[in-house]
Amino acid sequence: MMEAISMLSGSSPSSKDTFLFDSTKNGPKGAPARPVVAILGSGDFARSLALRLLRCGYRVAVGSRQPRRAADSFPHVVDVTHHEDAIAKADVVFLAVRREHYASLWGLRHLLAAKVLVDVSNNSRPNQYPESNAEYLASLFPDSLVVKGFNVISSWAMQSGPREASRKVYICGDSVEARGQVLDLARRLNFEPVDMGALCSARDIEDTPLRLFGAWRGPVLAAVGLSVLFFAYSFTRDVLHPYVHSRRSDFYKIPVEVVNRTLPGAALTLLALAYLAGLLAAAHQLYHGTKYRRFPAWLEGWMQSRKQLGLLGFFLACVHVLYSLCLPLRRSERYQLLNTAFQQVHANVENSWNEEEVWRVEMYISFGVMSLGLLSLLAITSIPSVSSALNWREFSFIQSTLGYIALLIGTLHALLFGWRRAFEEESYRFYLPPSFAVALALPVAVLLGKGLLLLPCLARRMRRIRQGWEAWRHRRGGVRSAAHVSPERVTIM
Ligand SMILES: Cc1cc2nc3c(=O)[nH]c(=O)nc-3n(C[C@H](O)[C@H](O)[C@H](O)COP(=O)(O)OP(=O)(O)OC[C@H]3O[C@@H](n4cnc5c(N)ncnc54)[C@H](O)[C@@H]3O)c2cc1C
Ligand SMILES: NC(=O)c1ccc[n+]([C@@H]2O[C@H](COP(=O)([O-])OP(=O)(O)OC[C@H]3O[C@@H](n4cnc5c(N)ncnc54)[C@H](OP(=O)(O)O)[C@@H]3O)[C@@H](O)[C@H]2O)c1
Ligand code: HEM
Repeated sequence: MMEAISMLSGSSPSSKDTFLFDSTKNGPKGAPARPVVAILGSGDFARSLALRLLRCGYRVAVGSRQPRRAADSFPHVVDVTHHEDAIAKADVVFLAVRREHYASLWGLRHLLAAKVLVDVSNNSRPNQYPESNAEYLASLFPDSLVVKGFNVISSWAMQSGPREASRKVYICGDSVEARGQVLDLARRLNFEPVDMGALCSARDIEDTPLRLFGAWRGPVLAAVGLSVLFFAYSFTRDVLHPYVHSRRSDFYKIPVEVVNRTLPGAALTLLALAYLAGLLAAAHQLYHGTKYRRFPAWLEGWMQSRKQLGLLGFFLACVHVLYSLCLPLRRSERYQLLNTAFQQVHANVENSWNEEEVWRVEMYISFGVMSLGLLSLLAITSIPSVSSALNWREFSFIQSTLGYIALLIGTLHALLFGWRRAFEEESYRFYLPPSFAVALALPVAVLLGKGLLLLPCLARRMRRIRQGWEAWRHRRGGVRSAAHVSPERVTIM
């Protein structure tokens, strides 16, 4: 006879009742107790999962090789016992042991037959084994209904309760019924389950937590590439040119001035790239006269990266602002100011006030601040907990309309900063235009593109396409071409 260490039996009824009352307070009052769920293994994940299950009203049996020792780690209402005993008490069994130890549980296969066996395991690196852990488990326990899931949730998130960003759990399994049971369980644990179909998706699910900033790779490469280009450009114009031409050493400009040309140039271009994707998507839809045609893969990927492009642009713009605020603190700035004052005295100029210059600077600083303010709003609304509190129209108004306004104001900021210098001959060093002119190229193109889309004829067509209108249905012979596409859809009167 197995020695089952049931902590329930040892605890006083009052303390047990109190715990269950607290733990089920989120569930419906007077609802029948939920079934027992078994967990094999007593490590970090098992402990966190047990707590979450208890809080949602389930009873939990933990199977351990050493139940007496493991019992200390669990609340006393958890039934910590041997593997065989825990399995016998439940229809759903979580396997919270590492893949390397699966084979040591092989002796339990007859007990696990026809039970739902949930694999929560992760590996330490992608493609560590030839097959996914879940498929390996299914090959060891062919009579069990293996389901993959919950591996994307850390034991910390499992214990503290799902937050907005970590609510999604991906679930797959060959048995539709078993999968349905685990999907339902995930929902009751307050997660957002995503049905990933058959067990062959397990590899994808297991790779998910191992991806290192997957969605950020392209945008980060773009940000680094643009920064290198702008740095090289500004270095060539502002440092190399004076040295080559007049042997003047302006290398002191590298740490602040050159960097403060690199950052805003890359920021503005990244923002423009975030909005260019939407423009190309619109052009694609206008060209094909439908919204039901898939975007090419490169555009699809670009559309998915807009958030990251925008946030990186915002980050660089913030650092640019900090640098700009530090410009007057530099010693070089003070010497230049003193020298200018001296030359002014020498030239007997009493008042050097230049109304146009004053207005230019006031305006470009003001536009910069406004653009940064709007971008901060966009960044705040991209936080999942904030965006989920907005409906689709509100989110789209902030991200699309206010985003374009932020880009427009940022562009005006750079335009006013440059003012007439773009047209002065001495601004073209090595025949290269000033860096602000380069930074303006893409944003101006994007804003002009958006302006085109706002033309009534294009805007009307775009609106209809978004509402499901399709050009080919309304062309002459549209019905004939429809018959070619799908003969069964044509009704012969
Ligand atoms: C700081 C910052 C944070 C950002 N955070 C986010 C973020 O959290 N999430 C995010 O997605 N982006 C984010 N972005 C990027 C950007 O703000 C958004 O992607 C924005 O919605 C783009 O607006 P748009 O008008 O170009 O694109 P969209 O409004 O997506 O429109 C692009 C094109 O897609 C098509 N389209 C759009 N809606 C429909 C529809 N209903 N039916 C058919 N076709 C349609 C149309 O062709 C349209 O012209 C962020 C940017 C910044 C600067
Ligand atoms: N920790 C996380 O944040 C996290 C997140 C997602 C997924 N996961 C997955 O969850 C599983 C468990 O992770 P964990 O962090 O809890 O691991 P852990 O702390 O190492 O615990 C694993 C448990 O497995 C049991 N075990 C150890 N060797 C065994 C063997 N030879 N045979 C049978 N059982 C053995 C032990 O329980 P007994 O001594 O009681 O038998 C041990 O407590 C892993 O597959 C992991 O990838 C973990
Ligand atoms: C509080 C907000 C801002 C302030 C105070 C500010 C300040 C400045 C200053 C002082 C300059 C001139 C730098 C120099 O002398 O070299 C400048 C240039 C520039 N700023 Fe800003 N800025 C702000 C926000 C922004 C934002 C949000 C963007 C873009 C998204 C931006 C893009 C640019 C660009 C492209 C230039 C031209 C850089 C060049 O010379 O190539 N700025 N800004």
